This record gives sequence, C-alpha cells and structure tokens, in this order.
Amino acid sequence: MPVTPACSGHETPAAMEGPLFRPESPERTDLRTPSITGVFLSLRGVVYDPACKPIPGALLEFWQCDQHGDYDVSGFSLRGHQRTGADGGYRLETIIPRDYYGRWGRRAPHIHTQVQAPGGPILVTQLYFPDNTVAYGRDFAALNAQDALINRSCTILLNANGSSAYGGRFDFVVKRSVR
Ligand SMILES: [Fe+2]
Repeated sequence: MPVTPACSGHETPAAMEGPLFRPESPERTDLRTPSITGVFLSLRGVVYDPACKPIPGALLEFWQCDQHGDYDVSGFSLRGHQRTGADGGYRLETIIPRDYYGRWGRRAPHIHTQVQAPGGPILVTQLYFPDNTVAYGRDFAALNAQDALINRSCTILLNANGSSAYGGRFDFVVKRSVR
C-alpha cells in the first residue's frame, strides 16, 4: 500500500442504512467480543474533505454482522464508534463479515458505516470486499456480482497478512458543512 494514498476529492457515495443500526454504540476501535472468531481485519484510513484536507475529530460509526452472517440486535458486538485523530486517521480492528440473506436478498459481505465531520452532514454508506477475498469458504466474486446494492467504488483495498488475517485501507471523502 502507498504510504500516502491519493485522495480523489470525490465524495464517498452514500448507501442504504438498513434496519440494523443501533444508536449509542460503545466508543472503541476494536469491535471484537469473545464470541467473534472470524477472519481478522485491521482497517485503516483517513477522512478527507473534498479539498483532500484531513478532518480531525470526524465521527465514524461501524456496524456489521459476524462470521455466521448474524447481527447482534440485543448488544453491541461488532458495533462501535470513534473519532479521527489530529491527522484525520482512524483504525478499526474487526473481522471480515459473512454474507447473509435478508430483506434485500443475499448480501455480499459489507461493513455499515456512518461518517460525519464535526458539524457536518452524516454520510451513511457500506464498505465491500474485493472479489479475491478468502474467508469462510465463500465465493466473494459471485457474492459481489449478485448483490443489487453493491457500489464497487466503496471496496476496501485489502492486503493479506497470512492465511487468516487481512489489513485493509479505505479513505472517506465527506463534506465539512451542511451548506
Ligand atoms: Fe447489512
């Protein structure tokens, strides 16, 4: 991965929030709880404004399903929020989610995300995985191809760190102000 990835300046596209967001998640960078045994993912990135200036203090909310394709609807496993540092950067320790069958048919593995600059509008989106991702014996290329909601421009850049762990990179571009 490049040390200083290029910022496109194009705002990260929005996506459907879905029904499984839960407010008041814990503030944390590691979303894993003892029941979580999936393929490890260390995700990093920067939140930029459209002029490609990093945004410190941006609020990031993540929620996703587990290695079985299940969301925690009573607790906060694989749910959490954090703020970007002075350099606009964030890091997230989690797992690669599994695909699941729901209201919109079979969903390719994805991480639900909200991003908000201080005082800015909330971007709601979903992050996806490359076709060659190896996890849970699933065919990510086929899952991505048949997902009607997928936006390929929201695909995480993934590096394998051995057979059971990945490093990922995704930079967001969001508006600083609602005007
Ligand atoms: Fe989902």
